[in-house]
Amino acid sequence: MSSEVTSALDDIETQLYAAKQSGLLRGTLSAEEQFKLITGSNDLVEAVKGAKHIQECVPEILDLKKAVFKNLDKCVDETAVISSSTSCLAPSLFTEELSKRDHCIVCHPVNPPYYVPLVEIIPSSWTDKFTMDRTRALMEEIGQVPVLVKKELPGFALNRIQYAIIGECWRLVQEGVMSTEDVDKVMSAGLGPRYAFMGPLEVMHLNAEGMQSYIDRYAKSMTTVSSTFGPAPTFDGAALNEIVKDMNTQIPLVNLDERRQWRDARLLGLAKLKKDMDSEQK
Ligand SMILES: NC(=O)c1ccc[n+]([C@@H]2O[C@H](COP(=O)([O-])OP(=O)(O)OC[C@H]3O[C@@H](n4cnc5c(N)ncnc54)[C@H](O)[C@@H]3O)[C@@H](O)[C@H]2O)c1
Repeated sequence: MSSEVTSALDDIETQLYAAKQSGLLRGTLSAEEQFKLITGSNDLVEAVKGAKHIQECVPEILDLKKAVFKNLDKCVDETAVISSSTSCLAPSLFTEELSKRDHCIVCHPVNPPYYVPLVEIIPSSWTDKFTMDRTRALMEEIGQVPVLVKKELPGFALNRIQYAIIGECWRLVQEGVMSTEDVDKVMSAGLGPRYAFMGPLEVMHLNAEGMQSYIDRYAKSMTTVSSTFGPAPTFDGAALNEIVKDMNTQIPLVNLDERRQWRDARLLGLAKLKKDMDSEQK
């Protein structure tokens, strides 16, 4: 077994015990029992033998996805689902030529998936119902929150919404309206908490006397403001230099790991709070 596989197994073990310690371990088996069921291999045929669901996680390079899916097509069981973690690539781009293309699907997780449970499920036009239903059922069974993207489109749903937010934050700094630090606070102290428990459509419904009332009050302003957004930023030039400099000052590159740990601990805390609040409600 290669050192990459050994270190991945070490990481999985550490994460299972962290989940156990925080009371967020999922399933009916203990962390020890779960870890005993996980094995590693450098051999694709051995790795997928007898598998019901394969979750491909190689880098976001179309030719690499094509090559991995071509190899999987040859060696997986007839009923296996072959799923990709791709964040942006439409499944038809790398499954069209395959004999088992009806069993191929995208199931896009969000990082860190154990504490941010959303998964976007994106079928291609030839993905069969069995594959869609079984992928959705499996994700629900393991505690993820699946959503269906009914049509293949660039960025699916999560990244389309995320890029709309990033684009406007970038423009606000580029146009000298706000500092990088303040624009991030608009999310971390404003929209982030607001959306931690419900989506924007439900927020609209609650922030007036229902959705129709919200539209009656705010549709004109929303259209006026939205029409001033301007073209998509190209993320280069003076704005790029300024934002890179600001971010490197706020969080020097040597401190990235420390800050990631800080973020993951807070996401874990939020996941725990949500779990506790949900179980109090039952
Ligand atoms: N990082 C994220 O936040 C995130 C979130 C959701 C989805 N994704 C998607 O998951 C996929 C992987 O992203 P990542 O950020 O984990 O990438 P990564 O580069 O961190 O990990 C990729 C893994 O693939 C392995 N690998 C590289 N070449 C390979 C090959 N030829 N055959 C087999 N294995 C190979 C590497 O050893 C590494 O373990 C991408 O499609 C990405 O879009 C990433």
